[in-house]
Amino acid sequence: MKTIIEPFKIKSVEPIFITTVEERVQIIKDAFYNPFLIPAEKVLIDLLTDSGTSAMSSSQWAGMMIGDESYAGSPSFFRFENTVKDLTNMPFIIPTHQGRAAEKILFSVLGAKGKMVVSNTLFDTTRANVEASGAIGVDLLCSEGKLPNVPSDFKGNLDIEAFKSLIDKNGADNIAICILTVTNNSGGGQPVSMQNIIDVKNICKLNGISFFLDACRFAENCYFIKLREKKYADSSVEQIAKEMFSYADGCTMSAKKDAFANMGGFLALHNEDLSNKCKNLLILTEGFTTYGGLSGRDLEAIAIGLKEVLQEDYLKYRINSIEYLTNKLIKENIPVMQPAGGHAVYLDAKQFLSHIPIEQFPGQVLVTALFIEGGIRAVEIGSLMFGKYDSMNQLIPAQMELVRLAIPRRVYTQSHIDYVAEVIIEVYKKRDALKGLVITSEQPVLRHFTAKLAPVS
Ligand code: F0G
Repeated sequence: MKTIIEPFKIKSVEPIFITTVEERVQIIKDAFYNPFLIPAEKVLIDLLTDSGTSAMSSSQWAGMMIGDESYAGSPSFFRFENTVKDLTNMPFIIPTHQGRAAEKILFSVLGAKGKMVVSNTLFDTTRANVEASGAIGVDLLCSEGKLPNVPSDFKGNLDIEAFKSLIDKNGADNIAICILTVTNNSGGGQPVSMQNIIDVKNICKLNGISFFLDACRFAENCYFIKLREKKYADSSVEQIAKEMFSYADGCTMSAKKDAFANMGGFLALHNEDLSNKCKNLLILTEGFTTYGGLSGRDLEAIAIGLKEVLQEDYLKYRINSIEYLTNKLIKENIPVMQPAGGHAVYLDAKQFLSHIPIEQFPGQVLVTALFIEGGIRAVEIGSLMFGKYDSMNQLIPAQMELVRLAIPRRVYTQSHIDYVAEVIIEVYKKRDALKGLVITSEQPVLRHFTAKLAPVS
């Protein structure tokens, strides 16, 4: 059958609020043309993020009722710990309230000041935590990963040759850690191949560099490995995931993505000394080692979600539905990241709005237009998020100007997705009339969250 059906039925529903174009023009103006500043109730289809926005299963909700809220030694923690240990085969599991807390602890403890942190692409909060620790984030994405319109199987791969020459040039001692983001969120949700993971691991091992995974979307990445890397066609996603984790010295995880939890994260480690240092910091900032900023009920939801996400019927539906939307847009010649990623559709705003200069944030203009046209909230992943300024105050642009429409897990149905396609196609037809934006106020760190913008006069 061609029709993609959701492999679940709906037990509980939430209303969404319908607004008119006129109302949305005012809403976006009041939000200073920044989707992060729009009240959620004024959004029709919320594709701002797939993080913490999943619909939990009835098993997860049932698990929450048996969550034990003891300060120390809660059975919910041990269920969570066993599940993560079983998946990663790492002995030291540290719960945190979300992914960035795990990153903050890890980078603070690594003592990487002045050293490099190498990645395929660091996510925005990851880069910010790297930089806050005094380290330097270096993205070494493979060349095909930087070409949105050129399809290739593993566009999240790290550029192996570039990694080798970085080591030759700077010395392995100056590289604190290498962390691969699976899938590569800021690079279009594109997967990393198992071969690339093995190659990166081998280089790290040879040079004494720690090798980590940013595992937020590990299951989606593993499903792509099953589909696209011949050797793994007959392996289960669980087997692939276990092999993937077996190469890493540790991982950070935001459980708000592939664990279907509304909150949570963890650090998993092999090294006891590093784990002890991280736990000391955890107690200072997050909480005791058996809850780390989470309620017992959250730990239960994560433990159950980590098992559910490995169900292949679910992953098939998930990946197919993102591909369905991507292909609908490709059919209309709309510039979109190809092939489809794991959790989101990424529009190539540089091409979509080729008449708007990068300094006027074409990605943000497109985000604004999608909201006005159809009440869809998306996010810019381009020069508003990642752009820097040189000493002459000239913008150093991001690698790409993308607009991400992240699909929350198990939340929207096929007709919502059809509606989203219709809105994007409509905006594409009217694209020539769109005008640029300028920043009127910004903060020095992670400016895209709070920046205020206005149309160019
Ligand atoms: N790493 C990656 C690859 C992420 O996508 C995120 C979050 C984090 C780390 C941090 O996790 O939010 O639990 O602290 N990404 C969300 C997003 C926010 O919208 O893509 P967190």
